[in-house]
Amino acid sequence: MMHSEKTTFSSGTMVYTLYFLLLVGVLSLLSYSPADKQIHYERYDDVDGDKQSKSWLTSTQSSLQQVVAWSWRSWTGRRHPVFERPKRYGYFLHITDLHIDEEYIPGTTVDSDCHRFPSGNNKGPLAGLLGTPGEKCDAPIELAEKTLDYIAREWRHKIDFVVWTGDNSRPRKRKNIYHLNERVMSMMQKAFWPTARDPRHIPVVPTLGNNDVYPHNTIGDAHVDGELLDFYARLWQTWIPTDQRATFRRGGYFAVNVGPRLRVLSLNTMYFYHKNDAVKDCDVPGTPAYQQIEWFEHELLKARSAHVRVYVMGHVPPSPKHYRRSCLQEYVRIASQFPDVLKGHFYGHLNMDHFLLLDAREEQNNLHSNSYVNDTMATLEDSDPEEEDDVHVTRNVGKYVNWLRDMYESVDPIDHKHATFQRMPVVAVQVAPSVLPVYYPAIRIYRYEIHDDDDRAQCRHSGKKPHGTLMEYDQYFANTTQFELDLDTDLDEAHLNYQFEYNSKEEYELEDLTVASYFEFAKRLIGNGFEGNQLWLKYCRNMFVQSLNDDFA
Ligand SMILES: *[C@@H]1O[C@H](CO)[C@@H](O)[C@H](O)[C@H]1NC(C)=O
Ligand SMILES: *[C@@H]1O[C@H](CO)[C@@H](O)[C@H](O)[C@H]1NC(C)=O
Repeated sequence: MMHSEKTTFSSGTMVYTLYFLLLVGVLSLLSYSPADKQIHYERYDDVDGDKQSKSWLTSTQSSLQQVVAWSWRSWTGRRHPVFERPKRYGYFLHITDLHIDEEYIPGTTVDSDCHRFPSGNNKGPLAGLLGTPGEKCDAPIELAEKTLDYIAREWRHKIDFVVWTGDNSRPRKRKNIYHLNERVMSMMQKAFWPTARDPRHIPVVPTLGNNDVYPHNTIGDAHVDGELLDFYARLWQTWIPTDQRATFRRGGYFAVNVGPRLRVLSLNTMYFYHKNDAVKDCDVPGTPAYQQIEWFEHELLKARSAHVRVYVMGHVPPSPKHYRRSCLQEYVRIASQFPDVLKGHFYGHLNMDHFLLLDAREEQNNLHSNSYVNDTMATLEDSDPEEEDDVHVTRNVGKYVNWLRDMYESVDPIDHKHATFQRMPVVAVQVAPSVLPVYYPAIRIYRYEIHDDDDRAQCRHSGKKPHGTLMEYDQYFANTTQFELDLDTDLDEAHLNYQFEYNSKEEYELEDLTVASYFEFAKRLIGNGFEGNQLWLKYCRNMFVQSLNDDFA
């Protein structure tokens, strides 16, 4: 008797449970309002065409909706048609070089690094409210705050993760660098921390810039700089996975998963930087730079066998102008051997919007500027950039621009018969413009392909690009001059809104952001005809975030 009572009881419970789930389902369907009104991917409509699915991808599902989706799945074994459309694309933010300076005061002289008010008649240029484009000052705290506030308002619910490539502080004393990095970190946390509306954990991937270490540009191994590495390991602990902390404490680099089968490697590029005297070349076994190279290659091998795609990021871009020769060679050698795994290279440091093409077939360090000098650009030349502080590197833009042109010119055609799945002789590197207004402050939003099944042979021919392929980016900038003119409230209360600058696909006819597309673009850029010239001018205007348009008219 006991036994049968129990049965009756539990089937009764089951009926109640079913009723309950049904009720929950009905309630949550009622609470469902079609498409989150705040989310519009206008910029991307042409590529997806399926607005409804996009807003579903990114809008926050209420927990009730999740219950329904889950119940649907467990009963039918299939995805709920409304609640779980597969994602086709992902989006992420690249932000770099915030360079905050607490002593920055609007109205002070540029001569005093924007610290002291003018005395006497000899004023020279003065500090702006949100930075001083074209001058050597760092950025006021307000610019970083307002930029991250804008991102939190406009972008955080649309992105999957954040690539954050360093130089948060103005270098002074060690304590000062730590303090400024703590301030930037708390702003980043405020912007990307889970909220009631968007409870996701958004991975933010930090890296060390040459101004985040002490002394400036210099960081040794854990024996020499253990304190600094420990400091950043603690500061960034929410964003460095537990199993990576030992790696980070040893060398300042780590790996983090940012999505299904997608991983970001955050390199400590200071170990490759030619201005860092605290480490040796990349071909000296056992040294920090050598170990990082080994780690990089090992991570890519691991990713390949797990069918994981990788983005690599750091502060100083791999370039013959900035890396030790042996380190650049190793970087390019490894990158060229993993085109199937490595889908993007993201860097900052140079403040300018551009890309580098590195050729694994030749000795990179032989790239010298030829005598190609355009009159237009020559007017921008002044002193030698290598002599100056990095903030000012780009002052000598004419020389740099010519050098870039030579780089694009010198890369030999890619023989696609010999470029294989696991070997691509050319590497394309993205260098994003900074928030620090050397020109205007700017940020980038990238779109990448999500392909759940591309590691299965039968899915390779679906017409989609492989998982993780970079498709395009949108660049946004803030006209801080305009902001100042329009300001009619207290600075503290005013919102800073970035504006759309350009889209890589529309502006450059870049089909996607793969090496083949960049190679073809580079060759169009240096074309001699009218079209080539126009494209080059457009590219240069974008390079300086529209702030030097008169020089590239
Ligand atoms: C920025 O604003 C200033 C002041 O209104 C204007 O002269 C300039 O053309 C603007 N620049 C861009 C690129 O929009
Ligand atoms: C070089 O400058 C001339 C004007 O002096 C301009 O017409 C031309 O487009 C420039 N060429 C490049 C490649 O920028």
